[in-house]
Amino acid sequence: MAKFHKLTVKNIRPETDECVSIAFHVPEELKPEFEFTQGQYVTLRTDINGEDIRRSYSICAAPHEGELRVAVKKVPQGKFSTFANEVLAEGDEMQVMTPQGRFFTELKENQQKHYVAFAAGSGITPVMSIMKSVLKVEPQSNFTLFYGNKDAQHIIFKEQIEDLKNVHMQRVRVHHVLSRENPGADLFHGRIDEEKCNSFCNLLLNPQNIDEVFLCGPEPMIKAASNVLEDKGVPTVNIHYELFTSPNQPSAKQHATAKKGAEVKGSVEEGRVKVILDGEETNITVGTDGDNILDAALKAGTDVPFACKGAVCMTCKAKVLKGDVKMDKNYALLDEEVNQGYVLTCQAHPTTDEVVVSFDD
Ligand code: FES
Repeated sequence: MAKFHKLTVKNIRPETDECVSIAFHVPEELKPEFEFTQGQYVTLRTDINGEDIRRSYSICAAPHEGELRVAVKKVPQGKFSTFANEVLAEGDEMQVMTPQGRFFTELKENQQKHYVAFAAGSGITPVMSIMKSVLKVEPQSNFTLFYGNKDAQHIIFKEQIEDLKNVHMQRVRVHHVLSRENPGADLFHGRIDEEKCNSFCNLLLNPQNIDEVFLCGPEPMIKAASNVLEDKGVPTVNIHYELFTSPNQPSAKQHATAKKGAEVKGSVEEGRVKVILDGEETNITVGTDGDNILDAALKAGTDVPFACKGAVCMTCKAKVLKGDVKMDKNYALLDEEVNQGYVLTCQAHPTTDEVVVSFDD
């Protein structure tokens, strides 16, 4: 189970005017727990003006770099991102959750693949980790990156990307796409939308030779790129995307592919739910006041894990051992996990009088 640990900020590095990367010191005894795979993320937790704030950020480092580093881009009115960019200092302590996520494919030294990534803004963060890992672990694989930003000034990891290109000249192709600045070619001016993706596929890519695709950025870009690539014959299973959301984002902003489990209808007036966490059992009542199992468990004083509360991060995953629940939304669990009884407790409401959910399974 994902768990918070208090870590010290080892280094803060400005990446652009509005983005910092933060490295944490991981003590020797916690290193096994903080091992990660390229493309994963951590949830950071801190108290800002008495409010418990949690946000998930992708790790920009590759596992072989031996560093736990995330990038945090300042977003307008973003409580945590503003705090991280303006207040947080080296030596400060912060709760960091052990790494999670499955925005990756298995890398093998003798594999020869063509990886293609579409990223926009801070969506480059997990892609950096993936790109560096692919280049290190698979010497015969190639990587093509399409990276969208407002202008050249806002390109996060610009120099690192250039360095990778220079070191792996034959294996890396990078195409910057700028929306508010014409980089000299109309093809690379504008947003990464369906039209652009079509042009890229026609002029710069052979979709038959794409093995894995990684998409990370705003939802319209993810949809545009996946639609075009699927149309061109790239199998859906090879198109991977990372979607971030926060509790306050309207659900319309989320990816429209809710998975099985979101369709179960009907809830009971009041359900008695037994929550098992770290071997301890807590009995709670989940009523019709809109509370989900996670919120009810939090109100009862348990320390159940969560981050996004938006059906995306999977931090609140638990297994239903008895009874049934329905989920409002599910953007994280695979069908097979739902079939095995796993639910996102931040979206789960009891549909039977008695339910037992375990965070330990
Ligand atoms: S808290 Fe993120 S999916 Fe439930």
